[in-house]
Amino acid sequence: MLRRIAPSLLCWLVLTCPAPAQDSPAHEPISGYAFMEPATRELQDDDFLNPAFFLVEEGLALWNADWPGASGQDRACRACHGAPESLRGVAARYPVSDPESGGMVNLELRINREIAEHLGAAPLPYESQELLALTALVGYQSRGMPMQLDLDETARAWAERGREIFETRRGQLNLSCRNCHQDHWGEKLRGDVISQGQVNAFPIFRLTWDEVGSRHRMFTWCMEAVRAEPHGYGSEAYLALETYLVLRGQGLPVETPGVRR
Ligand code: HEC
Ligand code: HEC
Repeated sequence: MLRRIAPSLLCWLVLTCPAPAQDSPAHEPISGYAFMEPATRELQDDDFLNPAFFLVEEGLALWNADWPGASGQDRACRACHGAPESLRGVAARYPVSDPESGGMVNLELRINREIAEHLGAAPLPYESQELLALTALVGYQSRGMPMQLDLDETARAWAERGREIFETRRGQLNLSCRNCHQDHWGEKLRGDVISQGQVNAFPIFRLTWDEVGSRHRMFTWCMEAVRAEPHGYGSEAYLALETYLVLRGQGLPVETPGVRR
């Protein structure tokens, strides 16, 4: 599928599009939701139809259950946190700076740290169903709340690094994230309308994947679309990108769990 769209994309950008202004003005952030077909929006709007919603329920089961291999006195998220509603607003302000590493930590990595440090169990693989489920559960507690980064010194530095990554051309197609998601959003690319590449709905169910995926999986998909070497899940480069994208989309309501084409 990607291989099929790639050459046409090149023409689309190089031949048919006016060269984007070097410094196009900042746009009001618009959720990817606005670029979806009505039928896809309806899937997201209805918790019973939303194909990502089962993950929230699975996350709740994990939250309540004694964790396999837990070694501490408290063996479930619930034992310390009570109901998941106690984490209302948390996902809306992640990633956050992390004094321990001096870098940024996102929700997935934070949840894994809870499992390792508070439950004494082995962390979950990134992109595993369980980690997606807990991320969806915690994200869901912030649904409707505006994304808002706590812009301390570390977050500022990482957002700046993320912006550089966002603007750097890469891959055989020599395209930056910005080329599509800032200079050409709203335009048609074969069947897709290019959105602003916002991150307010993750984890999302993508109909083209027929699966749920994280923000970092989406970054990898886009990097592979321009035939660039992707970075790893949880890598510093992706955390920097994620920090920048939350800052860039500040104020957009959390839609977790989202549905996209
Ligand atoms: C060739 C054009 C292109 C480039 C370059 C590109 N993307 Fe995308 N991206 C897409 C398409 C197509 C989609 C799916 C439709 C949509 O939401 O735009 C997408 C979707 C996304 C989404 C999901 C939006 C949502 O609402 O859920 C994010 C986030 C994203 N891209 C980030 C990035 C990042 C980060 C980069 C740079 C590493 C990048 N993209 C580079 C084409 C591109
Ligand atoms: C032994 C008690 C304990 C257990 C078990 C526990 N947590 Fe926590 N958790 C805490 C405490 C205390 C904090 C707050 C401050 C800190 O330690 O950094 C916290 C913080 C968090 C945060 C970050 C909140 C913020 O404001 O940034 C998340 C997310 C979280 N926990 C999720 C979980 C999940 C998911 C589980 C189960 C996999 C879990 N926790 C298990 C005690 C626990």
